[in-house]
Amino acid sequence: MTFVFDPFAPGFTDDPYPQYARLRESAPAHEHPLGFWILSKYDDVARLQRSAQSVDERYLTTLPAWKSDSAELGKRNRMMGGLSMLDQDPPDHTRLRRLVSKAFTRKAVEALEPRVRSIVDSALDRIGAAGTADVVAELAFPLPFTVISELLGIPVLEHTRLRELTSVLVLGLEPLAEPELQAGIRAANSELLAMVGELTRWKRDHPGDDVLTALIAAEHDGDVLSEEELVAQVMLLYIAGHETTVNLVAGGILGMLRYPGQARLLREDPGLAANAVEELVRYDSPVHLMRRVTVEPFPVGDKEVPAGVFVLACLGAANRDPGHWGEDADELRIDRRDAHQNLSFGAGIHHCLGAALARMEARIAVERFVRRFPDAELESVRFNGRVNVRGPAEVKVRARAGA
Ligand code: HEM
Repeated sequence: MTFVFDPFAPGFTDDPYPQYARLRESAPAHEHPLGFWILSKYDDVARLQRSAQSVDERYLTTLPAWKSDSAELGKRNRMMGGLSMLDQDPPDHTRLRRLVSKAFTRKAVEALEPRVRSIVDSALDRIGAAGTADVVAELAFPLPFTVISELLGIPVLEHTRLRELTSVLVLGLEPLAEPELQAGIRAANSELLAMVGELTRWKRDHPGDDVLTALIAAEHDGDVLSEEELVAQVMLLYIAGHETTVNLVAGGILGMLRYPGQARLLREDPGLAANAVEELVRYDSPVHLMRRVTVEPFPVGDKEVPAGVFVLACLGAANRDPGHWGEDADELRIDRRDAHQNLSFGAGIHHCLGAALARMEARIAVERFVRRFPDAELESVRFNGRVNVRGPAEVKVRARAGA
């Protein structure tokens, strides 16, 4: 019987890896009956990431079944107005990314390290005092959320509503979002566009030492971001800044709890922390799918993905491909030599702009957690039920400080 990839199968979002293995083995370029293609082998995914295929849906000649609703929507209704750099090809992508990079600098990220340490330590204090706690609620969510909010200069008053809206909007990144969710996602998108629009107007009159102020001022050869472009990039940074990193921090700590031998290794050699993050990001990719629209045929083995179709690159499957990583691809080994070759942050022109920030947050959180709680035990875990931005929604631990 021919294998058909089924992300709605019971248990898939808890553990997608058995299906990923079947995908790699049965058809590295899998043509799905719903009208899209999916790649799962390391080399093919890496090649697609660096290719000049498009991110623009107007090149689609075949519409995947689940797209029929949103494809009829105007640009304004598309996520972030369709104007974020993630949805743009060159030359628009080039100018947007250049302007944003002027504000979202390595220096701004590095300056945050002491603040990240202090947020992590306060969270670990709370976890230690409680004895039993949910690592997602106490640490993995608040850490990136606070960091990106402060980095952008978003007033605290706005946090609660923005947090609610982004948790709905992120479902729009699910390529297979159920049609009944679409109306809610569109409403969240419109409200967020309005809120962020208001915020940027307010910021013009109340400049601060933050990335939003720098984005407003960003200029290259007389070129600046239009009001609409500015709002879209702020939304992208804000959502990408926390909805993904929460999976890395939570999944990272979960990995340490599931494999106490690896946690011990990290405790004994804290110098392994950066490599441990690369391995954790490989082992459980915080983002599982990257999408492109083919503008030209894309050869995969003896097959060819035709032009004009949606092609999903499965980062989660490629990151566990034994063809690249060897027979122990399904094992977590924080001293794995080539862990940095993971594909989780993308590559090529859309390579993740926040990778350094996410890596820093995860390194500090994971390293300090294992040091502080050498006897921590996993009580239970619940996943967030998503296919793409997949990770734990709750990680309950029993943790008593410093045995
Ligand atoms: C792009 C993953 C954290 C901002 C991307 C892409 C991936 C990714 C795979 C490429 C998408 C594509 O090629 O279509 C991740 C993961 C993260 C993370 C796994 C955390 C563990 C962040 C953070 C920020 C951020 C913290 C910002 C504060 C962006 C932006 C882009 C991007 C702006 C678009 C780049 C472009 O289109 O040129 N990310 N990301 N990300 N990411 Fe991240």
